[in-house]
Amino acid sequence: MYCVRNVTEDLYWVGANDHRLHLFENIHPIPRGVSYNAYLLLDESTVLFDTVDWSACRQLLENVEHLLDGRPLDYLLINHMEPDHGASIEEILLRWPKVKVISTEKAFMLMRQFGFRIDDHELIEVKEGDTQCFGKHTVTFVAAPMVHWPEAMVTFDLTNGVLFSADAFGSFGALDGKLFNDEVDFDRDWLDDARRYFTNIVGKYGPHVQLLLKKAGGILDKIRVVCPLHGPVWRSNLAYLIDKYDHWSRYAPEEQGVLIAYASMYGNTEDAAQALAARLCDKGLTKVALYDVSNTHVSTLISEAFKYSHIVLASVTYNLGIYPVMHNFLIDMKALNLQNRTFALIENGSWACKSGDLMQKFIDEEMKNMTVLNERLSMASSLHADKAVELETLANALLESVGHTAE
Ligand code: FEO
Repeated sequence: MYCVRNVTEDLYWVGANDHRLHLFENIHPIPRGVSYNAYLLLDESTVLFDTVDWSACRQLLENVEHLLDGRPLDYLLINHMEPDHGASIEEILLRWPKVKVISTEKAFMLMRQFGFRIDDHELIEVKEGDTQCFGKHTVTFVAAPMVHWPEAMVTFDLTNGVLFSADAFGSFGALDGKLFNDEVDFDRDWLDDARRYFTNIVGKYGPHVQLLLKKAGGILDKIRVVCPLHGPVWRSNLAYLIDKYDHWSRYAPEEQGVLIAYASMYGNTEDAAQALAARLCDKGLTKVALYDVSNTHVSTLISEAFKYSHIVLASVTYNLGIYPVMHNFLIDMKALNLQNRTFALIENGSWACKSGDLMQKFIDEEMKNMTVLNERLSMASSLHADKAVELETLANALLESVGHTAE
């Protein structure tokens, strides 16, 4: 059965939701599923904007066939060819052999590299500033390299102000009927997944996102609707979304608060983390989030690290090193280019406590623009009452650095 939604007068969402995929990119858990958005414009020419993952191809075909109602498909416009969007390109070409494919030189190169048989079809190579008229609608193309792959572009409909934004402004989470941002409580139900999507998928490429935001800034008053390739379509409150993207891509925290991530073998390092969290809250700083790195997926830890201004890492020493899951978190923060944060460290070791020095070394030598507070809490096996002063000192140092006045 077809499943479509009307976006504007003659533009339709023809994508699909996926609740069966467990891991996005085979690495990030998506308990709320994901949507693969594609859009069909019924102008004098018919235009399909992007396709969907192979697993959702049948739904896409039913949707497009229903809306075309016997008309031919004239154009297939590909903003981003990564297989979660491009895998159905070949099937579209088989169904509508006369369709003309519009995309960038790099996208065509990558399509060939992935084995898509495109060369028997008319290919229209476009670059930034080019325009294409489909009848009433004229679109223009804007290069968006590394948002999130090098071939990506976004397409702006000059006629009705619709921005086809590719991966930009997307989110994890299936739509399940609700297509528009004003049909959901985004702040309550979607923001965490949108941040987790951005930070883990595009987080590394903050400067490229900034470049795209700068270009978007030039036409901001003309953008009416943003149609991303995942998650809700935005038709109101664009400033909210752009502000989030601006923070994330500048590596600026959304919240002056403290993320406490702990690695604990027998619960003793966890005790210290809990005691610190309680002291902070007791002093009035309740923007505190606490996670066990062993049972929290690193994509969530990354999202929270992008959210908060301060990060406390509490780790046992393991094989004379940092606990492996904590080490992995550090490596992922570095890989995703996180910067401009203040750290505090809690270390634990029963006979050769090394984790504090090693975490400090990693942060100092491997990461950019990070500060580590001097007030480190060291413990041997467990936190005893004689460490109460050190704990208090650490809590106060964090409060001062966050800019919170102790109550
Ligand atoms: Fe949703 Fe970069 O693909």
